[in-house]
Amino acid sequence: MQVNVDRESRTPLYLQIKNQIRQLILSHSLQPGYRLPPERKLAAALGVNRSTVVNAYRELEADGLIESHVGRGTMVNFIPGGEAGEELYLTLPPVWRNFYSSRAGRMNNPFISNILDMVAREDTISFALGVPAQEFHPVEYFSSIISGLMNKEGSALFEHGPTAGHYPLREYLAGYMAKRAIQAGPENIIILSGSQQGLDLAAKVFIEPGDAVVIEEHTYMGAIQVFAAAGARIFSVPMDEEGLQVDVLEQVLARYRPKFIYTQPTYQNPSGIAMSLARRRELLRLAYRFHVPVLEDDPYSELHYEGGFLPSLKSLDTSDHVIYLSTFSKVISPGLRLGWLAAPSDLARQLLMAKQLDDLHCNTLAQSVVNEFCRAGLLQAHLAMVREEYRKRRDAMLASLEEFAPPGLCWSRPAGGFHIWCSLPEGVHAGALLSRAVEKKVTFVPGDVFCANAGGTDRLRLSFSRCSETIIREGIRRFCTVLSKMINTGHGLDEAARQRQDLGQLF
Ligand SMILES: Cc1ncc(COP(=O)(O)O)c(C=O)c1O
Repeated sequence: MQVNVDRESRTPLYLQIKNQIRQLILSHSLQPGYRLPPERKLAAALGVNRSTVVNAYRELEADGLIESHVGRGTMVNFIPGGEAGEELYLTLPPVWRNFYSSRAGRMNNPFISNILDMVAREDTISFALGVPAQEFHPVEYFSSIISGLMNKEGSALFEHGPTAGHYPLREYLAGYMAKRAIQAGPENIIILSGSQQGLDLAAKVFIEPGDAVVIEEHTYMGAIQVFAAAGARIFSVPMDEEGLQVDVLEQVLARYRPKFIYTQPTYQNPSGIAMSLARRRELLRLAYRFHVPVLEDDPYSELHYEGGFLPSLKSLDTSDHVIYLSTFSKVISPGLRLGWLAAPSDLARQLLMAKQLDDLHCNTLAQSVVNEFCRAGLLQAHLAMVREEYRKRRDAMLASLEEFAPPGLCWSRPAGGFHIWCSLPEGVHAGALLSRAVEKKVTFVPGDVFCANAGGTDRLRLSFSRCSETIIREGIRRFCTVLSKMINTGHGLDEAARQRQDLGQLF
């Protein structure tokens, strides 16, 4: 029996083994009654743990393909289902991964879905999800808007709508952006199924496999995943407290001529950094000089807790280089799945073609509800309320960190957005800390998921938006207790750091 493992692959080793044996059985290379090698022997031959082979065999057994008998070992089963061998083969389900495109192979990071699933665990305090608090969804307003709409428009709310989106909502957004000095007519605006769709459309329209794109050194993982799935070569530019380091950006632009620069200038996810005005201007100057479009992702700028409103890159852009993306997910509710983009007309037409293939158009009812909500002035009132509440939650998290943090933990003090970005004491690996924190029922997002390449293992993101001030204090207390224990016992610390610590204890 010929089985190999590929240690570079993202597919877990046990699955690689399982899939190959499965394939050998389904293609009749291994006949019913064939005795599989003992687990220990196969593990030694492949250089893997015995438990890896045990897991592979266990899954094959669960699929009914093999059976273990005490004393006789593990044997390939007779697979019922057909008279003749040939027909039997045809009636077996396909091994789906053999049919996948190479693009599918680049879409194998379940992190976002995992975080979304974590919300459901009630006994755990989650600082992992950076979205509005459930108690702030404007349920009563939505309820009366929906019943009003039903009376007024009835079945029309369940019809198809234009691909670019509900016209009154695009018109509203044009006026809303004009107040923020962004010049875009309804014809430049496309309503999206969340700004995530805007990232995907940009990837589809701009990126050929092998094309370069530039991102910030740590950034929204959904963007990294979309660009990676499109086959982009991703170049990360370091940031400091003023945002993207434009001197490094200049070198990257000169050397790699990327298709676009993806940036979140205002209250960046995960760092909370707000790019300075000087940097914004410099970034645009470089984009013009190297003729590189800028994809500006701006979900958080309305959520400011101190300081003034920062001008978007789009509002400073005098030469149509900026594609602007924003969303209702952070300022109203993420389940609406509504965002929008503003782009120069030619490009808007091309993005529209891509959207048409994606989903035809966004949900008609959701767009009408949000349009009514905004036009009734409720968005502004809602924003005033949530800014105040999130500011209190941010302050509660900062105060709790001050109270409980062990030495060596550093954190940002964001002026807006949902996230506090932490750097860990030397030697503490965020992934190892997370496993221990989950046991103590508190979660966060480790920093490496925000990095396209290596790095970020000594960082983590804490989101304060979804928990009350009391829960935040308890969650930070638990988090800091786990971290302190890890530092004091040395368990889970990097090997190098532990050795240094052991040495330190000798003197
Ligand atoms: C920077 C950034 N861009 C885009 C998104 C996706 O948002 P949406 O719900 O609008 O798809 C998020 C959500 O976390 C985000 O933080």
